[in-house]
Amino acid sequence: MKTVGVIGANGMVGRNTLAELEKIKTPFQVKKFGRNDEITPLDIAVLCTDNPVSRVLAGKIKDRVKFIVDMSSEFRLDPSVPLVIPEINPHAITPDTHLIASPNCTTTGLVMSLAPLKPLYHMPEVFFCSYQAISGGGKQLIDEFNKAGSYYEKNCVPLIGSIQPNGHTSEELKGIYETRKILELPDIKVYCHTVRVPVEVSHSLGVTLKTDKPVDLEEVKKAWNNFPNLRYSESVITPKEAAGKETTFICRLRADVEDPRVINYFITFDNLLKGAAMNGRQIVELLLEKYV
Ligand SMILES: NC(=O)c1ccc[n+]([C@@H]2O[C@H](COP(=O)([O-])OP(=O)(O)OC[C@H]3O[C@@H](n4cnc5c(N)ncnc54)[C@H](OP(=O)(O)O)[C@@H]3O)[C@@H](O)[C@H]2O)c1
Repeated sequence: MKTVGVIGANGMVGRNTLAELEKIKTPFQVKKFGRNDEITPLDIAVLCTDNPVSRVLAGKIKDRVKFIVDMSSEFRLDPSVPLVIPEINPHAITPDTHLIASPNCTTTGLVMSLAPLKPLYHMPEVFFCSYQAISGGGKQLIDEFNKAGSYYEKNCVPLIGSIQPNGHTSEELKGIYETRKILELPDIKVYCHTVRVPVEVSHSLGVTLKTDKPVDLEEVKKAWNNFPNLRYSESVITPKEAAGKETTFICRLRADVEDPRVINYFITFDNLLKGAAMNGRQIVELLLEKYV
């Protein structure tokens, strides 16, 4: 029997990954590993742990597991590691792959909206401002948010991750560099602000995209609706409706008032599902079908 282990099984992403794995039809055995558990040999290990832990564990278990799917940002920009969203770039996984990285949650929402437009338009520049849920910061941030007088209560905080020497946050840099890697568009300019808001689940992004020609709005909606797990809604969709769903929702598409090559729209999606556990499950499904 094939085996899939979830490491960090008691965290936000770990718990959701366990639930997601139940959706896979191929028979396999799931094993759960917490902080102090010894990891046994596995076909696939899903690391639902923070960066330094993922690096240590990946090194420690590399001879015991066939494939590692890592949810952290530790390996995402390593040129030898595929950074995969199965709807977009499953081809990045090859028979030689050992470790696959699952992308940043906010980046995932953005690239889900851009990938279907790639065959239609040249996209030189994109700007986004994110409205990111508390659960994106893991169970520690949820606990902090639930305490009376939390800084995040009735607030919005333009600091996610850590401030880097160039003034951007680590979260903002993920938005730039992961987008380029996943879309295989090394020259796309990504401008962004990432902001934490007092919403428990589902990240949102307000996006402005510059293309090379006047945009046909109906063509864009059609491209989005034909893409798996993506839907354009004529009515407003908020994080509340997106929570618990597998779909990445887009609404409020409109052309710029002056430049018809520029469009604005709003994205919302469950950060714990498509932004993490569901994407991880889709990678596991792909590995079970093709490589294990
Ligand atoms: N939350 C999101 O929306 C999201 C989205 C995309 C990617 N990610 C990434 O996914 C990873 C997990 O995030 P999270 O939100 O689930 O964080 P979390 O809620 O803090 O969970 C982290 C888990 O890792 C466990 N852990 C720590 N050290 C360990 C060790 N040595 N061996 C095994 N397990 C260990 C913790 O165990 P204890 O239970 O004992 O503390 C905890 O259960 C992070 O890298 C994060 O950046 C998160």
